[in-house]
Amino acid sequence: MTRESKAVVCREWGKPITVETIQVAAPRKNEITIKVAACGVCHSDLSATTGKIQYPPPLVLGHEASGIVIEVGEGVTAFKEGDHVVSSFISMCGKCRQCVRGRPVLCENARKAMFTLPDGTVRTQDKDGNDLNVFGACGVMAEYATLHVDNAVKIDPATPLPQAALVSCAVVTGVGAVFNTAKVEPGSRTAVFGVGGVGLNAIQGCHTAGAEMIVAVDTSDSKLQMAKEFGATHTVNINDVEDAAKAVKKLTEGGVDYAFECVGAGAVVAQAYKCLARGGTTVVVGVADPKDKTQFGTLSMPADERTIKGSWLGSARPQYDFPRILGLYNMGKLKLDELITKTYSIDEAPQAFDDMVAGKNARGVIVFE
Ligand SMILES: NC(=O)c1ccc[n+]([C@@H]2O[C@H](COP(=O)([O-])OP(=O)(O)OC[C@H]3O[C@@H](n4cnc5c(N)ncnc54)[C@H](O)[C@@H]3O)[C@@H](O)[C@H]2O)c1
Ligand SMILES: [Zn+2]
Ligand SMILES: [Zn+2]
Repeated sequence: MTRESKAVVCREWGKPITVETIQVAAPRKNEITIKVAACGVCHSDLSATTGKIQYPPPLVLGHEASGIVIEVGEGVTAFKEGDHVVSSFISMCGKCRQCVRGRPVLCENARKAMFTLPDGTVRTQDKDGNDLNVFGACGVMAEYATLHVDNAVKIDPATPLPQAALVSCAVVTGVGAVFNTAKVEPGSRTAVFGVGGVGLNAIQGCHTAGAEMIVAVDTSDSKLQMAKEFGATHTVNINDVEDAAKAVKKLTEGGVDYAFECVGAGAVVAQAYKCLARGGTTVVVGVADPKDKTQFGTLSMPADERTIKGSWLGSARPQYDFPRILGLYNMGKLKLDELITKTYSIDEAPQAFDDMVAGKNARGVIVFE
Protein backbone atom coordinates (compact mmCIF):
# COMPACT_ATOMS: atom_id res chain seq x y z
CA MET A 1 0.00 0.00 0.00
CA THR A 2 0.99 3.63 -0.47
CA ARG A 3 1.65 5.40 2.83
CA GLU A 4 1.50 9.05 3.83
CA SER A 5 4.75 9.97 5.50
CA LYS A 6 6.30 13.07 6.97
CA ALA A 7 9.71 13.57 5.40
CA VAL A 8 12.61 16.03 5.46
CA VAL A 9 13.10 17.41 1.95
CA CYS A 10 15.66 19.64 0.26
CA ARG A 11 13.69 21.68 -2.30
CA GLU A 12 16.55 23.88 -3.53
CA TRP A 13 20.30 24.16 -2.82
CA GLY A 14 21.01 26.96 -0.39
CA LYS A 15 17.43 27.10 0.95
CA PRO A 16 16.26 25.80 4.35
CA ILE A 17 14.99 22.20 4.48
CA THR A 18 11.23 21.57 4.61
CA VAL A 19 9.23 19.00 6.54
CA GLU A 20 6.50 17.75 4.17
CA THR A 21 3.90 15.04 3.96
CA ILE A 22 4.85 12.80 1.05
CA GLN A 23 3.59 9.52 -0.44
CA VAL A 24 5.75 6.41 -0.11
CA ALA A 25 4.71 3.69 -2.56
CA ALA A 26 4.55 -0.02 -1.78
CA PRO A 27 7.64 -2.17 -2.31
CA ARG A 28 8.11 -3.65 -5.78
CA LYS A 29 10.17 -6.75 -6.62
CA ASN A 30 13.13 -7.14 -4.24
CA GLU A 31 12.12 -4.13 -2.15
CA ILE A 32 10.93 -3.63 1.41
CA THR A 33 9.08 -0.83 3.19
CA ILE A 34 10.32 0.09 6.64
CA LYS A 35 8.78 2.14 9.42
CA VAL A 36 11.72 4.30 10.35
CA ALA A 37 12.59 4.34 14.06
CA ALA A 38 15.51 6.79 14.12
CA CYS A 39 17.67 8.71 11.66
CA GLY A 40 20.95 10.46 12.42
CA VAL A 41 21.66 13.90 10.96
CA CYS A 42 24.94 13.61 9.08
CA HIS A 43 27.04 16.44 7.66
CA SER A 44 26.54 14.80 4.24
CA ASP A 45 22.78 15.56 4.54
CA LEU A 46 23.71 19.17 5.15
CA SER A 47 26.12 19.10 2.17
CA ALA A 48 23.26 17.88 -0.04
CA THR A 49 21.27 21.00 0.92
CA THR A 50 24.10 23.35 -0.10
CA GLY A 51 25.04 21.60 -3.36
CA LYS A 52 28.44 20.51 -1.99
CA ILE A 53 27.06 16.99 -2.56
CA GLN A 54 25.30 17.32 -5.91
CA TYR A 55 22.23 15.08 -5.62
CA PRO A 56 19.50 16.94 -7.52
CA PRO A 57 16.57 18.36 -5.52
CA PRO A 58 13.80 17.83 -4.70
CA LEU A 59 15.51 15.24 -2.50
CA VAL A 60 14.33 13.32 0.56
CA LEU A 61 17.28 13.49 2.96
CA GLY A 62 18.60 10.81 5.31
CA HIS A 63 20.86 7.79 4.94
CA GLU A 64 21.62 6.85 8.58
CA ALA A 65 18.49 5.12 9.85
CA SER A 66 17.13 2.10 11.62
CA GLY A 67 13.62 0.74 11.32
CA ILE A 68 11.28 -2.21 11.25
CA VAL A 69 10.17 -4.00 8.09
CA ILE A 70 6.40 -3.60 7.61
CA GLU A 71 5.93 -4.84 4.03
CA VAL A 72 7.99 -6.95 1.65
CA GLY A 73 7.80 -6.99 -2.14
CA GLU A 74 7.75 -9.93 -4.55
CA GLY A 75 10.76 -12.21 -4.41
CA VAL A 76 12.08 -10.99 -1.04
CA THR A 77 13.44 -13.90 0.98
CA ALA A 78 16.10 -12.27 3.16
CA PHE A 79 13.64 -10.09 5.11
CA LYS A 80 10.23 -10.57 6.67
CA GLU A 81 7.77 -8.29 8.43
CA GLY A 82 9.00 -7.39 11.91
CA ASP A 83 12.72 -7.66 11.10
CA HIS A 84 14.89 -4.86 12.50
CA VAL A 85 17.12 -3.29 9.86
CA VAL A 86 19.49 -0.41 9.23
CA SER A 87 19.78 1.42 5.92
CA SER A 88 22.91 1.30 3.79
CA PHE A 89 23.63 4.06 1.27
CA ILE A 90 25.66 1.45 -0.59
CA SER A 91 23.56 -0.91 -2.71
CA MET A 92 26.03 -3.84 -2.88
CA CYS A 93 24.55 -5.58 -5.95
CA GLY A 94 26.87 -8.53 -5.29
CA LYS A 95 27.44 -9.12 -9.00
CA CYS A 96 29.59 -6.31 -10.46
CA ARG A 97 33.38 -6.52 -10.61
CA GLN A 98 33.88 -4.41 -7.44
CA CYS A 99 31.34 -6.38 -5.41
CA VAL A 100 32.86 -9.66 -6.57
CA ARG A 101 36.36 -8.53 -5.61
CA GLY A 102 35.06 -7.79 -2.10
CA ARG A 103 34.73 -4.00 -2.29
CA PRO A 104 30.96 -3.37 -2.22
CA VAL A 105 31.35 0.32 -1.32
CA LEU A 106 32.65 0.75 -4.87
CA CYS A 107 29.68 -1.15 -6.40
CA GLU A 108 29.38 -0.06 -10.03
CA ASN A 109 25.60 -0.40 -9.99
CA ALA A 110 25.23 1.63 -6.77
CA ARG A 111 27.22 4.40 -8.45
CA LYS A 112 24.63 4.63 -11.22
CA ALA A 113 21.83 5.23 -8.69
CA MET A 114 23.04 7.65 -6.01
CA PHE A 115 19.72 9.48 -5.60
CA THR A 116 17.16 6.94 -6.81
CA LEU A 117 16.59 3.27 -6.07
CA PRO A 118 19.02 0.97 -7.95
CA ASP A 119 16.66 0.67 -10.97
CA GLY A 120 16.75 4.45 -11.49
CA THR A 121 13.17 5.09 -10.29
CA VAL A 122 11.77 6.30 -6.95
CA ARG A 123 8.87 5.30 -4.70
CA THR A 124 8.51 8.83 -3.27
CA GLN A 125 6.19 11.56 -4.49
CA ASP A 126 5.15 14.92 -3.06
CA LYS A 127 1.55 16.00 -2.48
CA ASP A 128 1.27 17.16 -6.12
CA GLY A 129 2.38 13.78 -7.43
CA ASN A 130 5.90 14.88 -8.43
CA ASP A 131 8.76 12.42 -7.95
CA LEU A 132 11.21 13.09 -5.11
CA ASN A 133 14.80 11.83 -5.30
CA VAL A 134 16.21 9.99 -2.30
CA PHE A 135 19.62 10.55 -0.71
CA GLY A 136 21.92 7.59 -1.34
CA ALA A 137 19.07 5.32 -2.51
CA CYS A 138 17.69 5.73 1.04
CA GLY A 139 15.74 8.94 1.82
CA VAL A 140 15.18 7.66 5.35
CA MET A 141 14.70 10.99 7.17
CA ALA A 142 11.03 10.12 6.92
CA GLU A 143 8.42 8.12 8.79
CA TYR A 144 8.41 5.42 6.07
CA ALA A 145 10.84 4.43 3.34
CA THR A 146 10.79 1.85 0.57
CA LEU A 147 14.28 0.47 0.00
CA HIS A 148 15.85 -2.09 -2.29
CA VAL A 149 16.94 -5.16 -0.30
CA ASP A 150 20.55 -4.35 -1.25
CA ASN A 151 20.24 -1.09 0.75
CA ALA A 152 19.22 -2.75 4.01
CA VAL A 153 21.03 -4.86 6.60
CA LYS A 154 19.25 -7.03 9.16
CA ILE A 155 20.33 -6.48 12.79
CA ASP A 156 19.80 -8.11 16.18
CA PRO A 157 16.40 -6.89 17.49
CA ALA A 158 17.91 -6.57 20.97
CA THR A 159 19.97 -3.55 19.83
CA PRO A 160 18.37 -0.20 20.69
CA LEU A 161 17.20 1.32 17.40
CA PRO A 162 18.55 4.90 17.80
CA GLN A 163 22.04 3.58 18.51
CA ALA A 164 21.77 1.09 15.64
CA ALA A 165 20.91 3.90 13.22
CA LEU A 166 24.28 5.56 13.75
CA VAL A 167 26.14 2.43 12.69
CA SER A 168 24.98 2.86 9.11
CA CYS A 169 27.02 6.03 8.53
CA ALA A 170 28.91 7.89 11.29
CA VAL A 171 30.13 4.81 13.13
CA VAL A 172 31.00 2.56 10.21
CA THR A 173 32.62 5.49 8.37
CA GLY A 174 34.88 6.45 11.28
CA VAL A 175 35.57 3.02 12.74
CA GLY A 176 35.79 1.41 9.29
CA ALA A 177 38.36 3.99 8.13
CA VAL A 178 40.54 2.80 11.02
CA PHE A 179 39.87 -0.96 10.87
CA ASN A 180 39.34 -1.54 7.15
CA THR A 181 40.98 1.29 5.22
CA ALA A 182 44.04 2.08 7.36
CA LYS A 183 44.26 -1.20 9.31
CA VAL A 184 45.77 0.60 12.31
CA GLU A 185 48.08 -1.68 14.34
CA PRO A 186 48.38 -1.64 18.15
CA GLY A 187 50.95 0.93 19.28
CA SER A 188 50.38 3.23 16.28
CA ARG A 189 50.48 7.01 16.55
CA THR A 190 47.38 8.60 15.05
CA ALA A 191 45.66 11.93 14.48
CA VAL A 192 42.06 12.74 13.57
CA PHE A 193 41.26 16.09 11.94
CA GLY A 194 37.62 17.07 12.54
CA VAL A 195 36.01 15.30 15.49
CA GLY A 196 32.30 15.51 14.70
CA GLY A 197 30.06 12.45 14.31
CA VAL A 198 32.50 10.72 11.96
CA GLY A 199 35.78 11.88 13.51
CA LEU A 200 34.74 10.83 17.05
CA ASN A 201 34.24 7.35 15.64
CA ALA A 202 37.68 7.41 14.05
CA ILE A 203 38.96 8.34 17.53
CA GLN A 204 37.20 5.41 19.18
CA GLY A 205 38.29 3.12 16.35
CA CYS A 206 41.93 4.09 17.00
CA HIS A 207 41.39 3.53 20.73
CA THR A 208 39.87 0.08 20.18
CA ALA A 209 42.69 -0.79 17.74
CA GLY A 210 45.21 -0.07 20.52
CA ALA A 211 46.78 3.14 19.17
CA GLU A 212 49.44 4.54 21.50
CA MET A 213 48.69 8.18 20.70
CA ILE A 214 45.47 9.69 19.35
CA VAL A 215 45.58 13.42 18.65
CA ALA A 216 42.21 15.09 18.06
CA VAL A 217 42.36 18.27 15.94
CA ASP A 218 39.35 20.58 15.65
CA THR A 219 38.30 24.22 15.79
CA SER A 220 35.91 23.66 18.71
CA ASP A 221 36.90 23.15 22.34
CA SER A 222 33.63 21.35 23.14
CA LYS A 223 34.28 18.83 20.34
CA LEU A 224 37.83 18.32 21.61
CA GLN A 225 36.45 17.64 25.08
CA MET A 226 34.13 14.99 23.58
CA ALA A 227 37.13 13.52 21.73
CA LYS A 228 38.88 12.92 25.06
CA GLU A 229 35.84 10.98 26.25
CA PHE A 230 36.10 8.78 23.14
CA GLY A 231 39.81 8.02 23.65
CA ALA A 232 41.88 10.98 22.40
CA THR A 233 45.18 11.19 24.27
CA HIS A 234 46.01 14.73 23.06
CA THR A 235 44.07 17.63 21.55
CA VAL A 236 44.95 20.53 19.27
CA ASN A 237 42.62 23.48 18.72
CA ILE A 238 43.55 24.89 15.33
CA ASN A 239 42.70 28.38 16.53
CA ASP A 240 45.37 28.19 19.26
CA VAL A 241 48.33 27.22 17.05
CA GLU A 242 50.07 28.69 14.03
CA ASP A 243 50.42 25.37 12.21
CA ALA A 244 48.27 22.37 13.25
CA ALA A 245 50.48 19.83 11.46
CA LYS A 246 53.57 21.11 13.28
CA ALA A 247 51.69 20.96 16.59
CA VAL A 248 50.72 17.31 15.91
CA LYS A 249 54.32 16.46 14.96
CA LYS A 250 55.61 18.01 18.16
CA LEU A 251 53.10 16.19 20.37
CA THR A 252 53.86 12.85 18.73
CA GLU A 253 57.64 13.34 18.62
CA GLY A 254 58.03 13.21 14.87
CA GLY A 255 54.58 12.67 13.38
CA VAL A 256 51.84 10.08 13.16
CA ASP A 257 51.60 6.73 11.39
CA TYR A 258 47.96 7.38 10.44
CA ALA A 259 46.10 10.68 10.00
CA PHE A 260 42.37 10.78 9.27
CA GLU A 261 40.78 13.79 7.57
CA CYS A 262 37.12 13.96 8.64
CA VAL A 263 36.26 17.53 7.55
CA GLY A 264 36.09 17.57 3.75
CA ALA A 265 38.53 20.33 2.76
CA GLY A 266 41.73 20.16 0.69
CA ALA A 267 43.52 22.50 3.11
CA VAL A 268 42.84 20.08 5.97
CA VAL A 269 43.94 17.09 3.85
CA ALA A 270 47.25 18.92 3.30
CA GLN A 271 47.63 19.27 7.09
CA ALA A 272 46.77 15.61 7.62
CA TYR A 273 49.52 14.73 5.10
CA LYS A 274 52.09 17.14 6.53
CA CYS A 275 51.83 15.71 10.07
CA LEU A 276 52.79 12.16 9.01
CA ALA A 277 55.87 10.38 10.28
CA ARG A 278 57.98 8.58 7.68
CA GLY A 279 56.02 5.62 6.35
CA GLY A 280 52.73 7.23 7.39
CA THR A 281 49.32 7.08 5.73
CA THR A 282 46.69 9.80 5.38
CA VAL A 283 43.10 8.59 5.01
CA VAL A 284 40.68 11.09 3.46
CA VAL A 285 37.16 10.58 4.80
CA GLY A 286 35.63 14.07 4.55
CA VAL A 287 33.59 14.81 1.42
CA ALA A 288 34.88 17.97 -0.25
CA ASP A 289 33.30 20.20 -2.85
CA PRO A 290 33.89 18.62 -6.32
CA LYS A 291 36.12 21.56 -7.33
CA ASP A 292 38.25 21.42 -4.17
CA LYS A 293 41.93 20.45 -4.52
CA THR A 294 44.77 19.57 -2.17
CA GLN A 295 48.55 19.91 -2.33
CA PHE A 296 51.53 18.06 -0.91
CA GLY A 297 55.22 17.74 -1.68
CA THR A 298 55.56 15.04 -4.35
CA LEU A 299 59.04 13.95 -3.26
CA SER A 300 57.85 13.07 0.23
CA MET A 301 55.80 10.17 -1.16
CA PRO A 302 58.75 8.06 -2.35
CA ALA A 303 61.40 9.48 -0.03
CA ASP A 304 59.30 8.92 3.12
CA GLU A 305 57.16 6.10 1.73
CA ARG A 306 54.00 8.04 2.55
CA THR A 307 50.55 6.96 1.38
CA ILE A 308 47.36 8.91 0.82
CA LYS A 309 44.12 6.97 0.40
CA GLY A 310 40.39 7.55 0.46
CA SER A 311 37.72 5.80 2.51
CA TRP A 312 34.06 5.51 1.47
CA LEU A 313 31.66 4.24 4.15
CA GLY A 314 34.71 2.96 6.02
CA SER A 315 35.60 0.58 3.14
CA ALA A 316 32.86 -1.54 4.68
CA ARG A 317 31.13 -4.70 3.64
CA PRO A 318 27.83 -3.56 5.22
CA GLN A 319 26.31 -7.05 5.66
CA TYR A 320 29.42 -8.05 7.63
CA ASP A 321 30.58 -4.81 9.23
CA PHE A 322 27.27 -3.41 10.58
CA PRO A 323 26.57 -6.48 12.76
CA ARG A 324 30.29 -6.72 13.66
CA ILE A 325 30.30 -3.12 14.92
CA LEU A 326 27.07 -3.63 16.87
CA GLY A 327 28.74 -6.69 18.41
CA LEU A 328 31.61 -4.48 19.62
CA TYR A 329 29.02 -2.12 21.15
CA ASN A 330 27.33 -5.03 22.92
CA MET A 331 30.74 -6.11 24.28
CA GLY A 332 31.31 -2.59 25.66
CA LYS A 333 34.19 -1.91 23.25
CA LEU A 334 32.50 0.92 21.33
CA LYS A 335 30.48 3.82 22.69
CA LEU A 336 27.23 4.46 20.85
CA ASP A 337 24.97 5.78 23.66
CA GLU A 338 27.38 8.69 24.22
CA LEU A 339 27.25 9.66 20.52
CA ILE A 340 23.60 10.71 20.77
CA THR A 341 23.83 14.20 22.23
CA LYS A 342 20.25 15.18 21.44
CA THR A 343 17.12 13.67 19.92
CA TYR A 344 14.54 15.58 17.85
CA SER A 345 11.06 14.93 16.47
CA ILE A 346 10.78 15.14 12.68
CA ASP A 347 9.09 18.54 13.02
CA GLU A 348 12.23 19.72 14.83
CA ALA A 349 14.51 18.67 11.93
CA PRO A 350 15.35 22.31 10.99
CA GLN A 351 16.63 22.81 14.56
CA ALA A 352 18.69 19.60 14.27
CA PHE A 353 20.38 20.97 11.12
CA ASP A 354 21.02 24.36 12.81
CA ASP A 355 22.55 22.58 15.82
CA MET A 356 24.85 20.62 13.49
CA VAL A 357 26.01 23.84 11.83
CA ALA A 358 26.63 25.32 15.30
CA GLY A 359 28.67 22.21 16.23
CA LYS A 360 26.50 21.45 19.28
CA ASN A 361 26.12 17.68 18.90
CA ALA A 362 28.30 14.61 18.58
CA ARG A 363 25.24 13.38 16.67
CA GLY A 364 21.71 14.73 16.60
CA VAL A 365 19.17 11.99 15.98
CA ILE A 366 15.59 12.29 14.72
CA VAL A 367 13.42 9.72 16.49
CA PHE A 368 10.00 8.60 15.27
CA GLU A 369 7.07 7.34 17.31
N1 LIG B 1 33.64 9.05 3.33
C1 LIG B 1 32.40 8.77 3.72
O1 LIG B 1 31.88 7.69 3.43
C2 LIG B 1 31.64 9.74 4.55
C3 LIG B 1 30.49 9.33 5.27
C4 LIG B 1 29.86 10.25 6.11
C5 LIG B 1 30.29 11.55 6.20
N2 LIG B 1 31.36 11.93 5.44
C6 LIG B 1 31.89 13.28 5.49
O2 LIG B 1 32.70 13.41 6.65
C7 LIG B 1 32.75 14.78 7.04
C8 LIG B 1 32.41 14.90 8.51
O3 LIG B 1 31.03 14.57 8.71
P1 LIG B 1 30.38 14.68 10.17
O4 LIG B 1 28.99 14.20 10.03
O5 LIG B 1 31.31 14.12 11.19
O6 LIG B 1 30.37 16.29 10.34
P2 LIG B 1 30.25 17.15 11.69
O7 LIG B 1 29.69 18.46 11.27
O8 LIG B 1 29.58 16.37 12.76
O9 LIG B 1 31.79 17.33 12.13
C9 LIG B 1 32.72 18.10 11.44
C10 LIG B 1 33.79 18.54 12.45
O10 LIG B 1 34.84 19.20 11.76
C11 LIG B 1 35.24 20.33 12.54
N3 LIG B 1 35.93 21.26 11.65
C12 LIG B 1 35.41 22.16 10.77
N4 LIG B 1 36.39 22.78 10.10
C13 LIG B 1 37.56 22.27 10.56
C14 LIG B 1 38.92 22.50 10.24
N5 LIG B 1 39.30 23.40 9.33
N6 LIG B 1 39.87 21.77 10.88
C15 LIG B 1 39.51 20.85 11.81
N7 LIG B 1 38.24 20.59 12.16
C16 LIG B 1 37.28 21.29 11.54
C17 LIG B 1 33.95 20.83 13.14
O11 LIG B 1 34.19 21.65 14.29
C18 LIG B 1 33.25 19.52 13.50
O12 LIG B 1 33.60 19.07 14.80
C19 LIG B 1 31.79 15.51 6.09
O13 LIG B 1 32.55 16.03 5.01
C20 LIG B 1 30.88 14.41 5.61
O14 LIG B 1 30.27 14.72 4.37
C21 LIG B 1 32.06 11.06 4.67
ZN1 LIG C 1 26.49 10.16 6.48
ZN1 LIG D 1 28.02 -4.24 -7.26
